[in-house]
Amino acid sequence: MTSPIRTELHDDVLVVISDNPPVNALGQAVRQGLKDAIEGALADDRVKAVVIRCDGRTFFAGADITEFGKPPQGPNLPETLDAMEASDKPVVAAIHGTALGGGCEVALACHYRVAVPSAKIGLPEVKLGLIPGAAGTQRLPRLVGAEAALPMVAIGNPIAAKKAQSIGLIDELVGEESLEADAIAFARSKIGQDVPRSSEGTANQDGVKNPDLFDEFRAKQGRKMRGFDAPNAAIEAVKAAGEMPYADGVKKERELFMKLMSGTQSAAMRHYFFAERAANKIDDVPADTEILPIKKVGIIGAGTMGGGIAMNFLSAGIAVTILEMKQDALDRGTSVMRKNYENTAKRGRMTGEQVEQAMGLLTPTLEYDDLADCDLVIEAVFENMDVKKEVFAKLDETVKQGAILASNTSYLDIDEIATATKRPGYVIGLHFFSPANIMKLLEVVRGAKTRGDVLATAMKLSKKIGKVAVVSGVCPGFIGNRMLSKRQEQANQLIMEGANYWDVDDVLLEFGFPMGPFQMGDLAGIDIGWHRDPTKVTTIREALCAVGRFGQKAGKGFYDYDEARQRTPSDEVKQIIADFAAREGSEQRDISKEEIKERLLYPMVNEGAKILDEGMAQRASDIDVVWINGYGWPLFTGGPMFWADTIGLSTVVEGLEKHGLEVSDYLRNKAEKGETFN
Ligand code: 3HC
Ligand code: NAI
Repeated sequence: MTSPIRTELHDDVLVVISDNPPVNALGQAVRQGLKDAIEGALADDRVKAVVIRCDGRTFFAGADITEFGKPPQGPNLPETLDAMEASDKPVVAAIHGTALGGGCEVALACHYRVAVPSAKIGLPEVKLGLIPGAAGTQRLPRLVGAEAALPMVAIGNPIAAKKAQSIGLIDELVGEESLEADAIAFARSKIGQDVPRSSEGTANQDGVKNPDLFDEFRAKQGRKMRGFDAPNAAIEAVKAAGEMPYADGVKKERELFMKLMSGTQSAAMRHYFFAERAANKIDDVPADTEILPIKKVGIIGAGTMGGGIAMNFLSAGIAVTILEMKQDALDRGTSVMRKNYENTAKRGRMTGEQVEQAMGLLTPTLEYDDLADCDLVIEAVFENMDVKKEVFAKLDETVKQGAILASNTSYLDIDEIATATKRPGYVIGLHFFSPANIMKLLEVVRGAKTRGDVLATAMKLSKKIGKVAVVSGVCPGFIGNRMLSKRQEQANQLIMEGANYWDVDDVLLEFGFPMGPFQMGDLAGIDIGWHRDPTKVTTIREALCAVGRFGQKAGKGFYDYDEARQRTPSDEVKQIIADFAAREGSEQRDISKEEIKERLLYPMVNEGAKILDEGMAQRASDIDVVWINGYGWPLFTGGPMFWADTIGLSTVVEGLEKHGLEVSDYLRNKAEKGETFN
């Protein structure tokens, strides 16, 4: 097999080039090639300096994640990088694209780093439940200081080349089109000088002088890090870089790295990494399917969802025409969008100019004719089949042939909606989540007749607007809400049987969800869909509405809220629930948190199994992607299906049986055979 690493001698500078598509991951052959090339350079008297660069779209994007969990094959990355840093001949990293993880560590082991302005550099290992494992946590703080290193190591977002230069991570920015030549010239200018080594840097002393740095960082990031093991390990490693000699710090890093690597969180997060990418692939739609051009989008309905959906496209630079029934609804909708943009600008995440640019792409209208030349129209009107059908019939009449007609329905049958048109092949569900301009998930609902190119276009477009898309078949609630309804059913049942509603919420919080079902109800508003007759009480929610407990907006719902929106369980609500349960003749008992957890989560796994069995999801990992991005399922467990695999499917089956809940044949068979979903 030919090596992915080749070398080219430019007079006295050896250029070492990696060509390992798609992202120059640092697999075994790359590491071997790099090590051989460095050894060759050291042994060759003609070579006075070395430049390391990559072909293709990016500098090394990290270790090869597919090798994780398999028996290691040498040379390992740390020894390869140590050999590189030990060289007395200057070694220069020439960076384009993304130097991530092990790729950033390669750059840190080089004596100098030059980059094109568009490059990004980072240590995203925490996003895989890990910390850098090739001395990144030790070299980076010594080079740039603990304060600058902490967010890079513990949060993992890459930084732009210019910022990297400002903290001392990049030595020089070079021409976008002349990376190699500029890097060679830079390397040549360093010949004969003593080489600086990151491992010998002293910038890490900032953390020694101000040890509070670490606790302050932890306190500030607390909420984001909740439940995750890796960020704490990352902080510990960066701290060690200041407290320990380099060799001991590297040992400490290795210990922390190995512990994380063998744990369930990293396995779950690596599963998610590949799951998100797999979700983009549609089994029977070839990757080279021709995409329909989407230059202009129409939205019907400027309510909560329509406005949010429109913002996605405006922010991506795509023109939107938004239609309402009445002028005041239209005005209200567009002014909410403007306000949202202005708030983002106030928080410094957008410039005033960008706000105007986005709003400038918006055309409000009351006329269907204005949608005639749209390439895609998304309907977000009331959740009512007759209204939806009426809208689709009108769209079919007015919008040009070849345009995609989409519905944002949460539960309704896309195939039935498609019957209102003469072009069911172009009808699709695009189920956004609220707030639609923020939530990452997009369920792409494939109707019986939806064309392959329409699906492929939706998937491609979702990437453009920053969404994570998952294909779902047509079934009530699609993947996400269908499983949610099983959880909700149990949550309601549990409080009828005597469980405290705050215990139900707390169980989910402790599991890692950002909030539980009753907190969620309070946030969304208990009165959504309420008939507004306080004398008609058939559910607990109706009982709460009848006494004005509408949720957070009213200062009280399931919980009482103080000014800071802190929740406290309410005696009034406890009584309302107890009265309601007595009225329904529901026996009361103490219910353990373990039972609550099993009854909330196992039925979701069972429903997921049915969804798979019916072919409503293409693969178990798609279900995980839906739940992690749409409903706050904790990433560090890998999603409901991966989590079920981790605890064992027979555990789930036994739990369901113990509580007298449904076990699907698909789940039971898998459990009996000792199989997993993923
Ligand atoms: N190892 C193996 N495969 C990788 C990979 C990696 N590090 N990074 C990306 N890939 C694969 C993807 O799975 C995908 O495969 P597919 O086409 O079969 O689905 C393909 O490369 C292209 O990836 P993307 O679709 O993500 O391409 P983008 O252009 O959208 O993004 C990227 C490119 C920003 C580099 C992104 O792929 C990425 O973030 N990669 C992971 C970076 C990372 O986490 N690095 C750290 C690894 S851990 C490490 O280095 C440990 C060390 O400290 C010892
Ligand atoms: P909404 O009530 O906030 O907005 C609906 C808007 O559509 C209103 O402004 C209304 O005036 C307008 N409208 C109604 N009929 C119309 C017609 N014939 N022509 C033009 N405009 C019309 O409702 P929301 O929450 O935005 O929901 C819209 C759709 O999105 C529903 O199908 C809903 O199920 C779905 N959805 C809602 C989510 C949510 O969390 N609110 C999440 C995901 C989907």
